[in-house]
Amino acid sequence: MERQEQLAVGRRLLGHIDGRSTDLADELFRNRTVNYSCHTRAAAERDRLFRDLPIFMGLGTRLAKPGDYLTEDVAGVPVLMTRGADGEVRAFANICRHRGAPVAEGCGNARAFVCPYHGWTYDSAGRLLGTTDKVGFAGLDLASHGLVRLPAAEKHGMMFVRPKPVAAGESATIDVDAHLGIMAPDLAALDLASFPLHSADRVAPRINWKFAIDTFLEGYHIPHLHRKTIAPYFVGNCGTFDAVGLHGRMCVARTSIESVRALAEGERNYRPHVISIYQLFPNALLIWQVDHVEIWRAFPGRDDPSRCDVEMTIYKPADSTRPDAYWEKNRDIAIRTVMEEDFPLGERMQVGFESGATEEVIYGRNEPSLVHFHSSIRNALGVVA
Ligand code: FES
Ligand SMILES: [Fe+2]
Repeated sequence: MERQEQLAVGRRLLGHIDGRSTDLADELFRNRTVNYSCHTRAAAERDRLFRDLPIFMGLGTRLAKPGDYLTEDVAGVPVLMTRGADGEVRAFANICRHRGAPVAEGCGNARAFVCPYHGWTYDSAGRLLGTTDKVGFAGLDLASHGLVRLPAAEKHGMMFVRPKPVAAGESATIDVDAHLGIMAPDLAALDLASFPLHSADRVAPRINWKFAIDTFLEGYHIPHLHRKTIAPYFVGNCGTFDAVGLHGRMCVARTSIESVRALAEGERNYRPHVISIYQLFPNALLIWQVDHVEIWRAFPGRDDPSRCDVEMTIYKPADSTRPDAYWEKNRDIAIRTVMEEDFPLGERMQVGFESGATEEVIYGRNEPSLVHFHSSIRNALGVVA
């Protein structure tokens, strides 16, 4: 966040603390519980949100060196992302052009990808280098049987992929600035390219993917559900929210923010006292923590709306001299709070949604980030409920 914006957000938060208030949505928002469990809705979300829109794949430092790669199933599309020998980030369908086996697993560094099924070999730019039976495949044009390209881009230290093959005549890149809108300079100011990956954790809770995102979009529950973990450190039910197209940014204050009041406006540094949660539509949250970056991404289960895959990654500053134990402590707090408090309760809520006994949930005016997220989903899907 740029300095002037940081000061403005800090002022807004202090004003809310003084007035015992918080940023408000225009009105209450009612959402159908069936939206968390219905197969038809899940299919529409997969097609409109997870195929047509750029999906945030984490920071570019995940692929730090040429030859680094990662694989991930993005809402049913097996994706391979590579950093080529030329330094460029590219994405492909992780599907061998022979008979469809994944050519890479997990993540790592490789000069080439050798398909485990019959040994066809591809380079990090997706080119088919060779088959293993020259007679059996005589006449096959290698040049037109590279891995299927998916649009991808790296910008402001962030990587994106659109999990739908590049169509004829279409660009293989993504206009990230157009996608992020006025949030682009805000994110650029974070210098995300200077945060290497510390850890990656994955869980598969029995909740709809939207609920995994909802968890982060209000501070209203902090004093209640998290009273034994993070509540003592945060000002509950108090925050700023700014909508940015389909995306949004919510900021919450740590109780330590009180210490800045003694300083003149120009000398204030809110960085240690304000947590910024960037909601990258549709399924990711980039959380600017006091001294590191925490990213959560939720993906719908391939054929079950009541399951999702969630990844939490922690990135630490490249110039930090803190011991690994310090970052492990941060990781542990995040895991205990979200995976042991938020998600277990969410699994019980998911049961309630699926029971059909209630028809709707209500997001309050004090939960503007949540209201905006679900309004954005409706807008992107072109539905009214
Ligand atoms: S499926 Fe990859 S070489 Fe046969
Ligand atoms: Fe929570």
